[in-house]
Amino acid sequence: MSLLIQEIPATNAPIGLLLLADPSEEKIRSYLPESKCFVASSNEAVVAACVVLQIKAGIYEIMSIAVQTAHQQAGYGTALLTWIIDFYRQSDASEIRVGTGTFGYQLAFYQKHGFRVTSIDHDFFIKNYPEPLFEDGIPLFDMLRLTLSYSGRTN
Ligand SMILES: CC(C)(COP(=O)(O)OP(=O)(O)OC[C@H]1O[C@@H](n2cnc3c(N)ncnc32)[C@H](O)[C@@H]1OP(=O)(O)O)[C@@H](O)C(=O)NCCC(=O)NCCS
Repeated sequence: MSLLIQEIPATNAPIGLLLLADPSEEKIRSYLPESKCFVASSNEAVVAACVVLQIKAGIYEIMSIAVQTAHQQAGYGTALLTWIIDFYRQSDASEIRVGTGTFGYQLAFYQKHGFRVTSIDHDFFIKNYPEPLFEDGIPLFDMLRLTLSYSGRTN
């Protein structure tokens, strides 16, 4: 797999792609200006993107990560997430956080990379999105918050 991963200006973020991970364009546009946007390209075509926001010193949150539908399950998401984890390990990061639904393959995807469940945000998806969200036909209510701690500590 030949993949080029690089940071791009947030103003050039591929919104259509990011909508696969966060269906609210309004929300994406609210955190983009303060975030870093990374894209993965294959043969000069963007196949995946990830937006990371600094929460406070040393603490970062993956706000969205998405792979083009036609390219999913081909390893690009794993390659991009691994790159992001290494990139922040080499910076001042002590931890990276991410929020996801309480079920679905995404939960395993993050935990395979060392993320641990740290809390549950009850009714997050109801409170933060105007329309109901579904995964595998099941309504999403609660968000699981996961943390990758570079020190290995979970509290
Ligand atoms: C989540 C996502 C970024 C993973 O990227 P990807 O390139 O598809 O994932 P990879 O090919 O690297 O595979 C990672 C693992 O996820 C699994 N996986 C990926 N898509 C899957 C799917 N639709 N159904 C079941 N498993 C899936 C793979 O089988 C693989 O499992 P393995 O490690 O046991 O082999 C991508 O599927 C995506 O963009 N999904 C839609 C947006 C989204 O849900 N973003 C995350 C929001 S929390």
